[in-house]
Amino acid sequence: NKKMNIAIDGPAGAGKSTVAKLVAEQLSFLYIDTGAMYRALTYAALRDEIELNDGPSLFKLLSQIDISLKHEKSGVRVFLNEEDVTDVIRTKEVTSNVSLVSSHELVRVEMVERQRKLAEGGHAVLDGRDIGTFVLPDAKLKVFLTASVEERARRRFEEQQAKGIDSDFEQLKLDIARRDELDSTREFAPLKMANDAIEIDSTTLSIPEVAELIIELAKERT
Ligand code: C5P
Repeated sequence: NKKMNIAIDGPAGAGKSTVAKLVAEQLSFLYIDTGAMYRALTYAALRDEIELNDGPSLFKLLSQIDISLKHEKSGVRVFLNEEDVTDVIRTKEVTSNVSLVSSHELVRVEMVERQRKLAEGGHAVLDGRDIGTFVLPDAKLKVFLTASVEERARRRFEEQQAKGIDSDFEQLKLDIARRDELDSTREFAPLKMANDAIEIDSTTLSIPEVAELIIELAKERT
């Protein structure tokens, strides 16, 4: 089948992006990190000192910027116009403000349009919060990837340690829970499992195991 898109949604830190990258690699699909798009806008808004409660101003800013995902040998790089923002969109400041920025309907409608365009050709893996419910309601395969908050915080903690960044485990847990709360309670296209999604709880599974499961499911559907 020509239009095989895979949607991977779920709460923060469940391993969506790592899994999505692996699945895309192994199936030779395009990986589209929709969270990175919201992060890039948040970064631009903070830099331009735009009021983050102001949907119309954020929309105006978004309409003036190009956000692109470039697939290079070293991995996917995120560009805001000509600037490589791959690393700066992962800072604490961006992470703690991205849910507010992405709660605005005007912002989401524009982002979703861009995401649909990117996925137009089929053969794409998209990860996010509303891919199965809103961006691609007809995706061939929808996965809802979860894990306990404890486990998600533990993974984040180790990730940070590996990067040489000191962090507080309890604080990470609170941050993750807060972001999930904001993402699931916003009015427009909240984080929610699609009715026809398959839930995978990755609490006791490794990333390659989850990727393998999804690849099997994808193969069953082609
Ligand atoms: O996946 P990631 O943690 O990078 O996403 C950052 C934030 O972007 C999420 O917490 C959420 O607020 C927003 N987001 C969204 N819809 C998506 C992807 C991300 O609202 N499809």
